[in-house]
Amino acid sequence: MPPAASLPVHIPLGTKPMGIWASLQASRRNVLNIIPAIATRQPMVSGRTGKRWHMVMDPAANRRVLLEEVDNYPKSLVTKNLLRPAIGESLFIAEGAHWRWQRRAAAPVFSHRNVMNLAPIMTAAAERSCQRIAAAGPRAVDMAEDMVRTTFDVIAEVTFSGDGTFDADAVHGAIDAYISEAGKISLFDLLGFPDWVPRPGRVMSGGAVKQMKRVADEAVEARRARGPDGVPDLLDLLLEGEDPKTKRQMNTAELRDNLLTFIVAGHETTALTLAWSLYLCAFDQEVQDRARAEVRDVLGDRACEGADVENLPYIRQIIDEALRLYPPAGVISRTAQADDTLCGREVKRGDTVILPIYALHRSHLLWDDPDAFRPERFADRKAIDRYAYLPFGDGPRICIGASFAIQEAVIILATLLNRYRFTPVKGRNPDPVMILTLRPEGGVWLEAEAV
Ligand code: HEM
Repeated sequence: MPPAASLPVHIPLGTKPMGIWASLQASRRNVLNIIPAIATRQPMVSGRTGKRWHMVMDPAANRRVLLEEVDNYPKSLVTKNLLRPAIGESLFIAEGAHWRWQRRAAAPVFSHRNVMNLAPIMTAAAERSCQRIAAAGPRAVDMAEDMVRTTFDVIAEVTFSGDGTFDADAVHGAIDAYISEAGKISLFDLLGFPDWVPRPGRVMSGGAVKQMKRVADEAVEARRARGPDGVPDLLDLLLEGEDPKTKRQMNTAELRDNLLTFIVAGHETTALTLAWSLYLCAFDQEVQDRARAEVRDVLGDRACEGADVENLPYIRQIIDEALRLYPPAGVISRTAQADDTLCGREVKRGDTVILPIYALHRSHLLWDDPDAFRPERFADRKAIDRYAYLPFGDGPRICIGASFAIQEAVIILATLLNRYRFTPVKGRNPDPVMILTLRPEGGVWLEAEAV
């Protein structure tokens, strides 16, 4: 095993069993605290905290939950109740027939061609990030914060682009307020704590949600009236979208809920992927040098464009490895609808089935030196068990925006590394903290030196 100093930041997982109050306290600070260390050494860990729950870290069982028996394992009510006030019965939340027609209608939005058409917007956002770094001068920059800004630029531009009525800052503020409010609640519900456990302020900041919906509704109506203009963005494509089976199209409320879903599901997750990738590149200068050599070779002096993405395999490996070590969606949960058997163990109807992606990705049963940063492990993708690596989930509910996110991350990371050498600021390592998503608490403070 490599010495701890040669490992990037990680959370020492718990070794003592916790009672209900202890886990409540622990999860309030960091959901990762409720994952026991044995979850990285065993395929399945079960317990009871109010409700019976099972953590599953076994590729075959994951495949059963996410693919083979998917109808038996809908998303847990918790996640849905949490997000419904903001994004309605959208793609992310709906089940059964209502999910299916929306997924079919939205699928073409994320086709390779459509995502590639949006690449110039990603390149431009990467350039603006470089300008902000330059403007910060010799001072260290919190790249976590800058990446949130950069990915919001992208998602705002590809959803409500060019509509005069759209106030990007207002929507950004409303969404961030909502996510931090929702995050506080999720901790308590994740393990299915019983209803008598007191929750802090179960009040969604109603004003923020209303404001967000109003702005989005106006943008949808304005676009419907105006029609597409130039390269179709996500809103144009969704307006055109139609379920090929039922011919059903989305009404304004459905369009708005799905657009907000794309923003909520896609913006912070992609920012985190980039923030952690940059942290890791600063942590391991050899990796960074090799990445820059690849980027120089392919791009010369220019920024990365859509067509370059397939020619930057090492950049992609760094992103894949960052998504392994710090999966933004660190925990996925489902509720069993029928009795079942997973890893030879009984699962009862109503039990919570948790896929702690963070622990799966650090399982000693599945990965060599799981806590070490080694992008090369992804050089041969076929050698990796598909259900051992689930940053985007899998099966029919797999992330619809995965290729959009990967393209965006490659374009931004490659452009930044082509312009700057990043080094860590001593004593300012981020802490991996998961509330709704796995964030680098304290920020990713890096020195950026022009190259
Ligand atoms: C690196 C960035 C991203 C990560 C790590 C990520 C992760 C995930 C995961 C794990 C799921 C499945 C959740 C579950 O099964 O419980 C999911 C679903 C989803 N994601 Fe992403 N996502 C990312 C980017 C995006 C982007 C850019 C968009 C849209 C523009 C997006 C839209 C969605 C939607 C709509 C769903 C629900 C799909 C369905 O249920 O049919 N995501 N994402």
